[in-house]
Amino acid sequence: MPSSIGIGIIGFGWMGQAHARSYLSIPKYFPEAGIAPRLVAVADTLPERIDLAVQNFGFESGMTDWRALVEHEEIYVIDITAPNTLHQELAEAAAAAGKHIFCEKPVGIVPQATASMELAARKAQVITGAGYNYRWVPLVQYIRRLIEEGRFGELTHYRGRFFSMYGRDRLGLLSWRFLQEEAGFGVLSDIMSHAIDMAQYLCGPITRVVSVKEIFVKERPLPTPGEGTHYQRGKPGDPTGRVTNEDYVGALVEFANGVRGTLEADRSIFGPQSSMALELNGSKGAASWDHEKLNQLQLYLPEEQPVDGFIEVLAGDAFPHQGNFVPGGGNSLGFEDVKIIEALEFLKSIEAGRRFRPDFGDALATGSVAAAMARSWETERWEDVVSLRIDESEA
Ligand SMILES: NC(=O)c1ccc[n+]([C@@H]2O[C@H](COP(=O)([O-])OP(=O)(O)OC[C@H]3O[C@@H](n4cnc5c(N)ncnc54)[C@H](O)[C@@H]3O)[C@@H](O)[C@H]2O)c1
Repeated sequence: MPSSIGIGIIGFGWMGQAHARSYLSIPKYFPEAGIAPRLVAVADTLPERIDLAVQNFGFESGMTDWRALVEHEEIYVIDITAPNTLHQELAEAAAAAGKHIFCEKPVGIVPQATASMELAARKAQVITGAGYNYRWVPLVQYIRRLIEEGRFGELTHYRGRFFSMYGRDRLGLLSWRFLQEEAGFGVLSDIMSHAIDMAQYLCGPITRVVSVKEIFVKERPLPTPGEGTHYQRGKPGDPTGRVTNEDYVGALVEFANGVRGTLEADRSIFGPQSSMALELNGSKGAASWDHEKLNQLQLYLPEEQPVDGFIEVLAGDAFPHQGNFVPGGGNSLGFEDVKIIEALEFLKSIEAGRRFRPDFGDALATGSVAAAMARSWETERWEDVVSLRIDESEA
């Protein structure tokens, strides 16, 4: 009999719905895991989203006030998919109620909020997870395995980026994401956080950064309150408001193991669509992967290849988790399949009572790098990465 895990989701927009689909999919794609997520309750301030959750996703109940959800006796895991500004309050309330917590990235509106959330979860001894889903791409897992096996030799260079199109349209609405007061930083926390997490996952801790930022689209049409996502647009002549956080961040980075690299993120760039990508080089080989071609990996391992040059490897059931979705090679996975893998691995950790990675500690390691980048914007100099982790004695 699969074990049932009661879940409450707070925020039922893009990510809340994607997480709900992921939980529902676990028993179908991974029956051998013996996990049966139970969608006990959803909270959203928009009543129509609650209706959608109950009627179309099978949630047992829905509420506009998240406080009742956090206290719900049959909920074991709180999943936070509400806007960044709410992450801290929600996670700290969940920790106080003794619930395990999954929170979407960036885990708090600013790195100091991540530090406070990490401390609250540590004190409550609950298991946490952070939504750095690109780690779970089967081919990325494979790159990490090749690194651990030393197949690239000693790593020397790393280039990471996340170039998204979501802010490219000058008529794209001024949603919460473009406002410092509602989202915190712009791309630094929104998508550079993914690039930092991936860089540290593959190459270890970043110790020093020098960084720049820019706002390329300075005004955007105002949204109607309660409507619209960041993919919706206004009309020419609509009233506009000022964008208050950055469209672009670039950084030179140094890693503790001597790797040198660059990280870039942009939401207004023309050309790339969702290019969360990496290139790494070592003394014996190299790899390159881009989320836009999620199922393709460029590998250069000259000692193991018949010819010199990059060779393309197609994803298939030889790579972690992929065979549960589709058998054989060259049959593709997509964004939400990776979210299903993330949800599966999180609930497996909950079942086993062991640490999940990436957790709030990893999110804090990412936030500490982001904080150093933000300091560098002010000082216009290299900044050391200083851990923002709070000791219990200081709290
Ligand atoms: N990992 C990823 O790839 C990824 C992708 C997109 C978003 N995200 C993250 O997911 C989170 C949500 O982003 P989204 O794109 O789903 O946003 P969204 O705007 O589509 O959804 C947010 C939802 O939260 C609801 N909400 C607002 N205030 C609330 C409150 N007080 N109580 C309950 N619900 C409330 C809104 O009504 C909305 O339904 C953010 O933290 C974002 O950074 C992660």
